[in-house]
Amino acid sequence: MAVLDQLTSQQAIDLENKYGAHNYHPLPVVLSKGEGVYVWDVEGKKYYDFLSAYSAVNQGHCHPKIVDAMVSQAKTLTLTSRAFYNDMLGKYEKFACEFFGFDKLLPMNTGAEAVETALKICRKWAYEVKGIDENEAEIVVCENNFHGRTTTIISFSNDPVARKNFGPYTKGFIKIEYDNLEALEAELKSNPNIAGFLAEPIQGEAGVYVPSEGYLTKAKALCEKYNVLFIADEVQTGIARTGQLLAVDHENVKPDLLILGKALSGGAYPVSAVLANDDIMKVITPGNHGSTFGGNPIAAAVAIAALEVVRDEKLAENAEKLGKLFRGELNKYIETSDLVSLVRGKGLLNAIVINDDEESETAWNICLALRDNGLLAKPTHGNIIRFAPPLVMTEEQLLDCVSIIVKTLKQFEA
Ligand SMILES: Cc1ncc(COP(=O)(O)O)c(C=O)c1O
Repeated sequence: MAVLDQLTSQQAIDLENKYGAHNYHPLPVVLSKGEGVYVWDVEGKKYYDFLSAYSAVNQGHCHPKIVDAMVSQAKTLTLTSRAFYNDMLGKYEKFACEFFGFDKLLPMNTGAEAVETALKICRKWAYEVKGIDENEAEIVVCENNFHGRTTTIISFSNDPVARKNFGPYTKGFIKIEYDNLEALEAELKSNPNIAGFLAEPIQGEAGVYVPSEGYLTKAKALCEKYNVLFIADEVQTGIARTGQLLAVDHENVKPDLLILGKALSGGAYPVSAVLANDDIMKVITPGNHGSTFGGNPIAAAVAIAALEVVRDEKLAENAEKLGKLFRGELNKYIETSDLVSLVRGKGLLNAIVINDDEESETAWNICLALRDNGLLAKPTHGNIIRFAPPLVMTEEQLLDCVSIIVKTLKQFEA
């Protein structure tokens, strides 16, 4: 077999199994093409993508405007490192700062790197602005969080599979219950060394947990009261996914540090960022932080195009409208079914909870049957299936997807 020969699905799976580390458990489907809301496997079967690469492909697969920006920039200048200036980064920083309403942006590549960046900025701010004694700063995080895979980030995860045997863990994090303002205030009130509060506006990986209405507004107000930075991880919820540009926009909350990734490039390229105003970002000086690829010209060109698509194609409005339709249609089914206990979410970030115990295989088996019926989704934790299609979906396509989902769920009814 020559390296670039067309493989069958089984050959591709076998190669990954033999030569790749086993750090994922993919659904057995091998994709070789994507366009808009669709993907195709190597045998040519077409599917609706109902995961969007964990909300990275909000703008749809291979969006022509994003791909054109990437190809054209790739032919001109790819990487300079930050040892020199390039003529794209400043344009992108200005565009993104105006787009999201912040003074400054710090460019990185992956979501986890951007989270790390925000944690570093928060700690430095704590020592240099708030006046916490060196090495004493603590950051409050939420139980069942997901912020990525680095050593520091998994130090404050409570997923045993993500943590076990990766210690010793980074200190300086305090975990409280998500959606619990009393727990937050108790920490902030009793501990003068708290520098920041890091939260996902909706907990995506945990199973699309939407906090109570008003939670974000009140959490931000508590952070202001105790002079603590409110850090919003919008890597999954941001860029129109939940029906607003940012999920915090549902409550008109402005975070002190905003973390973005995934759909910042429409899934075309690893692009992430932290945004903040000058009073916070000023703590970062040359040599404090960086990345060879962060802020490279391709990333800059791709991110501008990806955000323009979100704005010009009104993807937030579409996500809001289709999300309501989706939950409405699924609720009609749920009323008649014992298999699914609920659907929850905002915009086009939704999940259904299967009426079975956490360890059961039902959700996985439903995803295999969805695949057979032409729609790709994946369980998050145990018995929860996340549904997050590209935001360029039409109403007609969404209703087609609903009928595939309902038909498939009915196959599992007793
Ligand atoms: C909320 C959140 N933060 C951070 C990350 C990490 O992003 P990446 O996988 O690009 O490192 C993810 C990834 O799913 C996420 O959902």
